[in-house]
Amino acid sequence: MEIINRTQRMRSVSRKVRREQDRTIGLVPTMGALHEGHLSLVREARRMCDTVVVSIFVNPKQFAPTDDFQTYPRDLTKDTMLLADYNVDYIFAPAVEEIYPKNFSTHVEVEGLSDQLEGAARPGHFRGVATVLTILFNIVRPDFAYFGQKDAQQALVVRRLVRDLAFDTEIVVLPTVREESGLAYSSRNAYLSEGERKAAPVLRRALARAESVYAEGERNGRRLAELVRAEIEREPAAQTEYVSVADADTLDPLERLDDRPVLVSLAVRFGKTRLIDNVLLNRARTGKTGALVQP
Ligand code: PAJ
Repeated sequence: MEIINRTQRMRSVSRKVRREQDRTIGLVPTMGALHEGHLSLVREARRMCDTVVVSIFVNPKQFAPTDDFQTYPRDLTKDTMLLADYNVDYIFAPAVEEIYPKNFSTHVEVEGLSDQLEGAARPGHFRGVATVLTILFNIVRPDFAYFGQKDAQQALVVRRLVRDLAFDTEIVVLPTVREESGLAYSSRNAYLSEGERKAAPVLRRALARAESVYAEGERNGRRLAELVRAEIEREPAAQTEYVSVADADTLDPLERLDDRPVLVSLAVRFGKTRLIDNVLLNRARTGKTGALVQP
């Protein structure tokens, strides 16, 4: 395993792997502070691809000035040890100036999809995500890139980006990995106090409520959202930011749920920590894994 800090080195390694060795490349883009969710993506990349690259880059452009860019957990030593166990070929861990050189001025915007939900709550967030992924894809030129259903809207934005700008990369979306309590793994779980951590599994319980009332035949989107909200509010430590019941392809809010795949997603605050989670309803149409609908 080699740790690469320079864009030029990553670019030439990648070119060599592709051209001279005719090997497929899988890229797992991350911001580090790796956990089981990230590792599930690495495992699948290892299974599918000859060469596996994991990028670790806390991308300033996807954080608002009031966000947690400065305090975001960083532990490259621990991440490196974890990835060595997974037989990763390259870690690409560039400094900010490597990705955004002086006078950087080009941005990528996925219109529409970027404005709802997380995009509404965090203006500019998906512009930052789409821009950094464009740069990473151009440096690494992966055959496959791996993303988690945990960030469902991000996965949709990335699929759209790759389709619209004709990247030669296939996007693979994998299911959300959860702790035994039902809490989805997230680097931000590290911010939770002991009490908040006990409260946080309410997110999964609220989503399970959506699954069960949907299975019982509830087809009113607003009522479904209210039931989810009520479940969250049983937990005093939780403050709901939004509960969305939307078309799983377009993210348009749904009043009547028909036979289309439905994405129920939520953002909830526990003290200063903001967590997101989601579930897909009508899974029959979304494939065995329950991952976001394949195009
Ligand atoms: P980060 O939050 O580090 O997540 C990296 C990848 O891991 C994302 O695709 C995310 O969806 C996935 N992931 C996180 N928690 C997961 C879980 N519990 N189960 C399954 N997958 C999970 O998302 C980002 O970084 C950044 O926005 C990035 C794409 C790297 C661009 O900067």
